[in-house]
Amino acid sequence: MLLDGKKVAENIYKEIAEEIDWLTKKPCLGAVLLWEKDSPSMRYIEQKKRNAEKVGMEFILHHLAEDTSEKELLSKIQELNTDTHLSGYIVQLPLPQHIDNNTIINAIDSSKDVDGFHPINQGKLVTWDDSGFTPCTPAGIMHLLSSQNIDLTGKSVVIIGKSNIVGKPLISLCLNQWATVTSCNSKTPDISIYTKQADIVISATGMPHIITADIIGDKTVVIDVWFSIIDGKILWDSDVEAIDQQWNLVTPVPGWVWPMTVAMLLWNTLKAHKTYLWTL
Ligand code: GUN
Repeated sequence: MLLDGKKVAENIYKEIAEEIDWLTKKPCLGAVLLWEKDSPSMRYIEQKKRNAEKVGMEFILHHLAEDTSEKELLSKIQELNTDTHLSGYIVQLPLPQHIDNNTIINAIDSSKDVDGFHPINQGKLVTWDDSGFTPCTPAGIMHLLSSQNIDLTGKSVVIIGKSNIVGKPLISLCLNQWATVTSCNSKTPDISIYTKQADIVISATGMPHIITADIIGDKTVVIDVWFSIIDGKILWDSDVEAIDQQWNLVTPVPGWVWPMTVAMLLWNTLKAHKTYLWTL
């Protein structure tokens, strides 16, 4: 069966919209984008904007030139950190190569870091402190699993990919739910040793078809987070078509995890907004 992230995300949008409806001061989400107009990042930002507005949030895009210097970007970040109209904001990744990701992420005020990338928010996640923001894709995956009543207690979860955005936060989130977690990466010699005994496999590598039908069990849940584009063709981490959809619950098509990422971003923005309102 295919796991439809889009449908689950729609329910979350509805919940957020209902809460916002009650608020006199509406949340405002900001985004900083450094890529040219028709890049994938621009399309991702447009989806975030569309959905933010759909639930009743304001969305402000700061579209900067690709050759913006690190210093100029840091100065924009200082401006956004002190902008009380903004509930939270994101800096869309990837950044151009002349800019250091960590320098930028560290400069974001952690109370406005609705992406959950700042070390304070990553630390809160590891220490089970729920006052922080959880990175949106991992949070979306956890929601997707719970929407299917999949209880992780005692389950074997294999996470493939070790990024700060997806792989590492997922380790903490799954541990928090009492899963037995195995972390693999592109240098793991033979992932099948781990995936064959897994209840759940979550792959976020961008390596096409590293999850094939023969390296998972009959009832393994496969969450596929990433894809690559080769010769104009989209190839997911998992060979979705070959995996038996009668037995395995599998993303990505048609909704995959992306709608859940956007839903969690809006969730975090509403959380930032409510936290700010309580301080007034
Ligand atoms: N690039 C890919 N995923 C993300 C995300 O969740 N947030 C940001 N800011 N950039 C991304």
